[in-house]
Amino acid sequence: MSTDNLRLDRRDGVLWVTVNRPDKLNALNVATVGELGRAADEAAGDSGVHAVVLTGAGDKAFVAGADIAELNTLGPEAAKEFGLRGQAVFARFERLTKPVIAAVNGYALGGGCELAMACHLRIATSNAVFGQPEVKLGLIPGYAGTQRLPRLVGRGRAIELLLTGRNIGAEEALSIGLVNRVVEPVELTSAVDELVGAILRNGPTAVSHCLEAVVYGTDMPFDDACLLEATLFGLCAASDEMEEGTRAFLEKRKPAFRRG
Ligand code: COA
Repeated sequence: MSTDNLRLDRRDGVLWVTVNRPDKLNALNVATVGELGRAADEAAGDSGVHAVVLTGAGDKAFVAGADIAELNTLGPEAAKEFGLRGQAVFARFERLTKPVIAAVNGYALGGGCELAMACHLRIATSNAVFGQPEVKLGLIPGYAGTQRLPRLVGRGRAIELLLTGRNIGAEEALSIGLVNRVVEPVELTSAVDELVGAILRNGPTAVSHCLEAVVYGTDMPFDDACLLEATLFGLCAASDEMEEGTRAFLEKRKPAFRRG
């Protein structure tokens, strides 16, 4: 299954979404952002999809940013709309209650770094390059990079990267918490499969509720977020899954979780 600018492959309940403009280093033009939004909707609505992986075609880039040729033509109102539309699409991935993993296989610059940050987890190849170089183009990030980068790496480091536009390699990205792990390019697929497998072996409802608590709770006042957590904890107690998970422990066996 494919669209003009995306390749969509489904394997073992995992939807792999590959941005497929390798001749433009997978830069996100408006059409591609729209297709990403539809892919997020498909992932949300399909109970056969248990996890999503985002990656880029070719061996050079994850996504080298928003399409600069399109940016060049934007007036102020269109630019604001451009930002809002992209932010909404990226938020759809972040708000999926199924794990979304960025398999960062090269340049993740500008909108590419922002797309990776909207994912729940990031695995990078050793040749990956991250950065928010927008200031070099007389711009600021428009797909929530000014908000997600400080939340991931801390305000001081984020401001340094945002103001200098400096690119960083995979090891530095790992050391500041921008990525979860770094692997050699040939190991990327197996590393993603292993991580997804480790998640999907757990209680599916519990995994969804964890994501909801973190994603929705992070920007709530602390007490409200704790109330959300307690509510979701209560929902777990209403599920067969918690009954099975705790009983399996007591019976010294592996739990047999079922997907709804
Ligand atoms: N938007 C549009 N086109 C892009 C692009 C982007 N963000 N990034 C790369 N491309 C295109 C190039 O224009 C080139 O197209 P062409 O062959 O038709 O001329 C093609 O992709 C290959 O890129 P090129 O620059 O030749 O590759 P490189 O290996 O020399 O450099 C980068 C790679 C990533 C360092 C360089 O492409 C780059 O700096 N890209 C822009 C990154 C950026 O600023 N992103 C934030 C945008 S807000």
